[in-house]
Order: sequence, then structure tokens, then C-alpha cells
Amino acid sequence: MRITKSLSRAMAAAGFLLASGTAAMAAGDAGGGVCAPKSMPAHTEPHWSFQGVFGHYDHDAALRGFEVYRNVCAACHSLKLFAFRNLAELGATEDEIKGVAALYEVPDQPDDEGEVKPRPARPADRFPSPFPNEKAAAAANGGALPPDLSLILKSRAALENHVSNILGGYMAPPAGCDIPEGKFYNAYFPGYAFGMAPPLTEGAVEYNDGTPATVAQMTKDLTQFLAFVAEPTLEERKQMGVKVVFFLIILTVLLFLVKRQVWRKVH
Ligand code: HEC
Repeated sequence: MRITKSLSRAMAAAGFLLASGTAAMAAGDAGGGVCAPKSMPAHTEPHWSFQGVFGHYDHDAALRGFEVYRNVCAACHSLKLFAFRNLAELGATEDEIKGVAALYEVPDQPDDEGEVKPRPARPADRFPSPFPNEKAAAAANGGALPPDLSLILKSRAALENHVSNILGGYMAPPAGCDIPEGKFYNAYFPGYAFGMAPPLTEGAVEYNDGTPATVAQMTKDLTQFLAFVAEPTLEERKQMGVKVVFFLIILTVLLFLVKRQVWRKVH
């Protein structure tokens, strides 16, 4: 009885230390103080299909994510590392890729007069950027630069959850926290005053496969797509890793058998 009592007391003390530690950490956050969120909005996905040894992309989801990117995010964000023909790796047919590329225009080679005219995009073309340069992009967004999304899921600390955190991180600011005009409170943005209005609304796109385009669904699909753009060779790399481990196991067994054979007479 006494043991359980002191144990529970110790556990309570540890809990208190832990709780005050996290609270202190939250308060010490960038821009913290009154603007620190009381609680963080839940993550949309605890585990993504592309994590782990057998990781792979959900190809259908990634293709839907491309639809969301091109219909919503592409108004502000470039995707410089992505060419239309990359969609083939997700199972899009050549006709589908040609069809979607033709909806866009890219600058043609300069003609004989040195003039650059636009031409319809081809599968080998990169996805065209919405703004001619970064200054124009920032100027159109109240001074905040929409970053290129090609490596967004590789270059940030929270990695695979970064896009879902940011898209799901909008909430009312805590009491006493003033957010400047044109900024939006986002629990996952450092400093909390975020220069991007919530970009997704229910049904913002219409999916060809009939999947209902809820905000949560579009967020998941975007994550699959942007993870694919950031690392298109992930599936090959992981399959290779599994093959190598398999090979090493077989090699170990063989070496063991050979060793036994060689030493048999000696024993
Ligand atoms: C109307 C323009 C606009 C649209 C549309 C838009 N964004 Fe943004 N986005 C911005 C701007 C501006 C910033 C930079 C904000 C800042 O730094 O305060 C930004 C920043 C971001 C960031 C970076 C956050 C960070 O860590 O710095 C991510 C991720 C992002 N956007 C994702 C998306 C996705 C995904 C979509 C499509 C669903 C989208 N955005 C649509 C303008 C836009």
C-alpha cells in the first residue's frame, strides 16, 4: 500500500515537471507569449504510406493532389522541379499528360526577330510559375513570398506533416493576441502571423474519380503529391534497400554453410 502511494506521488511529481516543462517550452516559442496556441490542432495523418521500409506513394491520391495543386496552389506557388511527364510515374497515361500540359503555356524559343512568344506546354515542360520572378510574387501577396513547393516536404523540420500542419493550423488567435491586417493566425507558422489566407475550401476541386473533395481529403492528397515531387525515386530506393537486405541474409546463410563444410574435417 505504502509502495503504491509513494509511487503515485512520484508519478504525479514527474507529470508536473513534464507539464511545466512543455508549458515553458511553448511560452518560449518564437513570437510566443499571448499568441502561443493553448492547444495544437490535431495532425491529419499519423502515418503516411511513404514512410517506413516498404514505403510507397498512394498513386491515385497523388494524382488527385496534382489536381488540387494546379487548381488552387498554383495560383501563387511555383513547382519548379516538376515536369508534366513526371505524372507517368504515378500511372497517368500519355494522352492524359498531353491533355493537361496543353492547358498551359510556356515561353517558346526566341524567333528570328528575337521575340519570345508563348506556346502550349508539352509533357517534357516544367510546370509554369505563376509569377515572372520572386519580387512580383511577393508584391502580389502583400510582401510575403509564396515559397516554391517542390521541396517543401524535404526542406522543413516537420517534413511530411508540414503541409498538413500548415493547412490545418488556422484557428482563432488566443485572447490578447493581435494579428496584423492581411495576416492569418496559424498555430504551426513561426510567429503565428501567416501571410497565406486559408487556401482550401470544401469542394474547391472536383475529382474525376468521384472522391468527395473535403478539406481533409485534399490535404492528404496534396501531401502524397508534394512528397512525390520532392522525392520521385523513393519507391525505387526503398525497393533496392529491401533487395539488398534480402541478398545479405542469403549471403550470410551461404557463408555459414560453406564455413561448416570447410571446417568439417578439422572437428
Ligand atoms: C493567394 C495566394 C496563395 C495560394 C492560393 C496558396 N498559397 Fe501558400 N503561401 C502563400 C504565401 C504568400 C505564403 C508565405 C506566407 C508567409 O511567409 O507569411 C505561403 C506559404 C505557404 C507555405 C509555407 C509555410 C512555411 O513553412 O513557410 C506552404 C506549405 C503553403 N503556402 C502551401 C500551400 C498549398 C498546399 C496551397 C494550395 C492548397 C497554397 N499554399 C495556396 C500564398 C498562397
